[in-house]
Amino acid sequence: MDSATQTIIAYNKNRLALTGKQPTAFINTFGCQANVHDSEKIAGLLREIGYGQAKDEAEAELIVYNTCCVRENAENKLLGHLGEVKKAKATRPELKIALCGCMMQQDTAVEKIRQSYPYVDVIFGTFNLHKLPELLAASIEGKRQTIDIWQSHENIQEDVPVEREHSFKASVNIMFGCDNFCTYCIVPYVRGRERSRKSEDIIKECEALAASGVKEILLLGQNVNSYGAGLDEDINFAQLLRKINEIEGLKRIRFMTSHPKDLSDEMISAIANCDKICNHVHLPVQAGSDKVLEKMNRSYTKHDFLELVRKLRAVSPDIRITTDIIVGFPGETEEDFEDTLDVVRQARFQNAFTFKYSKRTGTPAAIMDEQVPDEVVGRRFTRLLDELTPIVYEISASNIGKVVSVLVEGVNEGDTNLLTGRADDNSIVHFKAATAQIGDIVDVKITGCKTFYLVGEEV
Ligand code: SAH
Ligand code: SF4
Ligand code: F3S
Repeated sequence: MDSATQTIIAYNKNRLALTGKQPTAFINTFGCQANVHDSEKIAGLLREIGYGQAKDEAEAELIVYNTCCVRENAENKLLGHLGEVKKAKATRPELKIALCGCMMQQDTAVEKIRQSYPYVDVIFGTFNLHKLPELLAASIEGKRQTIDIWQSHENIQEDVPVEREHSFKASVNIMFGCDNFCTYCIVPYVRGRERSRKSEDIIKECEALAASGVKEILLLGQNVNSYGAGLDEDINFAQLLRKINEIEGLKRIRFMTSHPKDLSDEMISAIANCDKICNHVHLPVQAGSDKVLEKMNRSYTKHDFLELVRKLRAVSPDIRITTDIIVGFPGETEEDFEDTLDVVRQARFQNAFTFKYSKRTGTPAAIMDEQVPDEVVGRRFTRLLDELTPIVYEISASNIGKVVSVLVEGVNEGDTNLLTGRADDNSIVHFKAATAQIGDIVDVKITGCKTFYLVGEEV
């Protein structure tokens, strides 16, 4: 055990002796699945140095904000929290605040925290979360604000402990970073260059998870379809999927995110042939117009995208496709936007995450001419939802009468007589259980639906 770890364990033992209860930490996570999974690693590290899990910020001795900067509103949300925390610190002197994640990889953001939020104790980034015990120890030993941001990974850290949120489903990183540099996107600047994990390490992790009872694995990467590039071994994502499909005990495989430019025929046939791969692909289209797609640096056309949809449905007729769409990219005209609506009509997405374009300083799009006025973006956004929602409803309703296989994730929040889970095809299902328990995979007969979920009964 290193001396930093010893310092912090001793500190926490001392807190326990003083207060009669174990010090606890609360992690507040913003952003995508990559951050959610990083927070599970942070939780693992904190457990090892003597922190319990707090149920909310109010009871915690340590609050960690794992930040996101993909859009401006994610950043604003964090700043709102930091305002609140200032008051909490005034009445709870033992409270420590740590900030990490994507937003901290931007110099301007860190500078702002230094100047305007001096009561933040520890700041680290996306490349060195394993350093948290050391940074906390430095803070405890009296440093006012401990800041440690790296510009890239030294090596992929394989030995970080993970405190997983669920026992029945788990996320597994297969790669880190992104090399695509879509012109609107900050992720490549804050998550660094693309690096794949060795397949051996991934398989070992998946096998251990399956052996411990995990039924569903979500493979994570910003562009999983380019998995394997740069590794010494000769492997691609389709081959990795086929290997994971062989793991005994594992029932379901999901993955995020597939970049359309790299969705090969080999991948499409792996999706169709591997029995454990769920009947769903998240395939972000972003926009429908070729001109906008080119300016976004997405490397495919509207025709290419629709062709992928056609090929996926040719091999898996019922496959559900979800997407991400940005409205109001610089230079987007009425005609360009019509192309986006046309893709929505033709591709028939099961669901779409829709975003208003948000200018990110440092990205090429931020300095493009013809930024679209807010009110135009607002109107287009509403029209997009008007186009999407009836399609989403129709797809939802097409499940009525079917029996679907559901992984039970929890008790329904609104009606505790129901359980909630996800069908193989990504639908959310609320249902009346007969014998089902959380973590089971059960058959559910669908009896009704709303736009964004299905209702049914266990059969
Ligand atoms: N790597 C994934 C997505 C990462 S970010 C991919 O390529 O699909 C998740 C989504 O946020 C993106 O798909 C995009 O739709 C949206 N997004 C990214 N940057 C944005 C910006 N500047 N403004 C609005 N939406 C953005
Ligand atoms: Fe961002 Fe594009 Fe990379 Fe996705 S592929 S993370 S949108 S740069
Ligand atoms: Fe946000 Fe970072 Fe994910 S910027 S969307 S948390 S990779």
